[in-house]
Amino acid sequence: MGLLMNLDGVITPDAQISVLDRGFLYGDSLYEVARTFGGRPFALLEHLARLRQSAAYLYINIRWSDAQICTEVERTLAAANNLESYVRIVVTRGAEEEISLFPGAEIEPHLLIIVRPIPPNPSLAEKGLHLTLLPRLRVDRRALTPAAKTGNYLNNILALIEAKQAGADDALLLNNQGEVTEATTSNLWILRKGILYTPVVESGILQGITRQFLLDLLKEWQIAHKEATLTQEDLWDAEEAFLSSSVRLIAPVGRIGDYSLPSCPGALTRRLFAGLIERMTAKADALGKK
Ligand SMILES: Cc1ncc(COP(=O)(O)O)c(C=O)c1O
Repeated sequence: MGLLMNLDGVITPDAQISVLDRGFLYGDSLYEVARTFGGRPFALLEHLARLRQSAAYLYINIRWSDAQICTEVERTLAAANNLESYVRIVVTRGAEEEISLFPGAEIEPHLLIIVRPIPPNPSLAEKGLHLTLLPRLRVDRRALTPAAKTGNYLNNILALIEAKQAGADDALLLNNQGEVTEATTSNLWILRKGILYTPVVESGILQGITRQFLLDLLKEWQIAHKEATLTQEDLWDAEEAFLSSSVRLIAPVGRIGDYSLPSCPGALTRRLFAGLIERMTAKADALGKK
């Protein structure tokens, strides 16, 4: 049980990759983070679809089929034998002797899978996160699009460092139009006047797998919700707020800047967390029975 890696099909506790790999030299890589539920990777196909989308943005050709990647993930999970695992899938553009920005035509991408144990039975945090708004902006969509989950997370890393320096837990990033985008590794949700809002894709966000899962759930449960262009002003009368991601699932927000949310975790946040867990459990059970 523990940390285990799989590099191009070879399972090992300590994978080694060349220092000439462009993932190391330039952050020229892609990744996905999923988690298991009931020991099975949750929404793996959705993560692989986004990995392919990110690869298309980076002009990287993923030569492994979804079935091959799923098999390698399953093999690594079986070898690690953790109760529940964090699963990171990384594709680097590869290594070549020539150190040049322009990648050679013959370059061969690498596929790396890292699994490590995570605590089973996730629960909703009772203490809310403190988010801060920073001068640092989310990367513009016309630059390295936030829609691609690449190994180049430096802007988000800096934002997280700056948020912590400011005494907060995470940053809430605006775009260059002053629109609210997302936190450094999670999507944002706010409840205002009974409607649950999340920023539109056009504001420049990563389209979270958890975000989509929640949108589907909200639709099914007929809970008033909207993908919208949000500005800072929209935050100051929010009744509830939370972040969503594959690892955090749902994390309640207690404070944004100087504004304390009146309810944390709020009733809707609790309901959605319970719904999410119920759905994830049902899906894992269905997969287990196959
Ligand atoms: C910038 C960013 N936004 C949002 C998310 C949430 O996405 P998901 O729900 O697919 O984990 C992540 C997670 O990796 C992220 O890095």
